[in-house]
Amino acid sequence: MGQQRRLRVVQWATGGVGRAAIQGVLAHPELELAGAWVHSPDKAGRDVGELAGLDPVGVTAVATLEEVLAIGADCVVYAPLVPDEAEVAALLRSGADVVTPVGWVYPDPARTGTLREACAAGGSTLHGTGIHPGGITERFPLMLSAVTGSVTHVRAEEFSDIRTYDAPDVVRHVMGFGGTVEEAESSPMAKLLGGGFKSSVRMVVAELGFRADEVRTTVENAVATAPIDSPIGRIDPGRVAGRRFRWEAVVDGEPVVTAAVNWLMGEEHLEGPDGPWGFGPEGERFEIEVSGDPAVRMTLHGLQPESVAAGLVRNPGVVSTAHHCVSAIPYVCAAEPGIRTYLDLPLIAGRAAPHLAR
Ligand SMILES: NC(=O)c1ccc[n+]([C@@H]2O[C@H](COP(=O)([O-])OP(=O)(O)OC[C@H]3O[C@@H](n4cnc5c(N)ncnc54)[C@H](OP(=O)(O)O)[C@@H]3O)[C@@H](O)[C@H]2O)c1
Repeated sequence: MGQQRRLRVVQWATGGVGRAAIQGVLAHPELELAGAWVHSPDKAGRDVGELAGLDPVGVTAVATLEEVLAIGADCVVYAPLVPDEAEVAALLRSGADVVTPVGWVYPDPARTGTLREACAAGGSTLHGTGIHPGGITERFPLMLSAVTGSVTHVRAEEFSDIRTYDAPDVVRHVMGFGGTVEEAESSPMAKLLGGGFKSSVRMVVAELGFRADEVRTTVENAVATAPIDSPIGRIDPGRVAGRRFRWEAVVDGEPVVTAAVNWLMGEEHLEGPDGPWGFGPEGERFEIEVSGDPAVRMTLHGLQPESVAAGLVRNPGVVSTAHHCVSAIPYVCAAEPGIRTYLDLPLIAGRAAPHLAR
């Protein structure tokens, strides 16, 4: 990328992903931190470096959309608890590109008219990313599929201990832990969650050319059989403490593309419909499998922390989500205006550590 001017980046929301993204922007040779939007009023006016657990960086956090627009950023990393389309449209209309882990990995063109208009008006680009969805569910399976042929099934599956994810609002409201099984299954948030994974499945279906129209969802829940300590406090017996989702595109009744998660509050005191739940001998991991000629399989370790305590301090999956956003920024800023997915962008890569860089 040569000696070009650094791209000016604003971080939207300073939760786990946002704080890691700030660190990522500060370490990235082509990026400059230009500001941050914060949700909690007590964070407004504070130094953004301090909010991210670093030394002060001389950049002050702001609390309104208008203040963010006044910064005139090249790109906004948009990582709030839940997406607000009007907010994203306003950012795009102002000319700022938006990279986000909260949706739009492979959006339905019929539902993105407003955002596409905003991109056209601002000459800006929107890119949805993440790790799961937004990486492991579609980008990496597509990459792996290139080294095989006659593909019959693509599977991406997560096995994670959710006691290490210190984002209580996400864990309770988006992922659906801590309440009754009925509450978990009827939550409107389940749609938001499933929407992301389903669109990833559709992306793989479309690019590989499977004859599959619908994506079916199956959910199983495990309840606590004894109190379990978790980031949302104590989960009492009978309350949801484990969730397994499968989102499957089907041809002739058989799955051809599967995204699945196994989210467990540890491996003790969990009772599912099929008995006690655990991760099996391989432990926490992400698996990607492409059944074809030949069948190839990849297991990713390192995205889950060494221990629950370590994960609560800094969860590598959250950090990785942030990096996938940050790494995309130079490519997104160079892209044609519009909504751009992995199918449109060139190979996205990270950058050398500052002390090893050219
Ligand atoms: N695709 C992926 O792989 C992936 C992975 C991880 C996370 N995510 C998504 O990324 C987002 C951030 O996750 P996280 O781990 O950073 O969660 P988090 O630590 O809970 O942070 C959530 C952020 O949203 C802010 N917030 C809370 N309530 C809000 C509201 N009503 N309106 C706007 N903002 C609000 C919080 O503000 P305060 O800091 O002021 O409390 C915080 O900055 C979530 O939507 C999550 O689902 C995606």
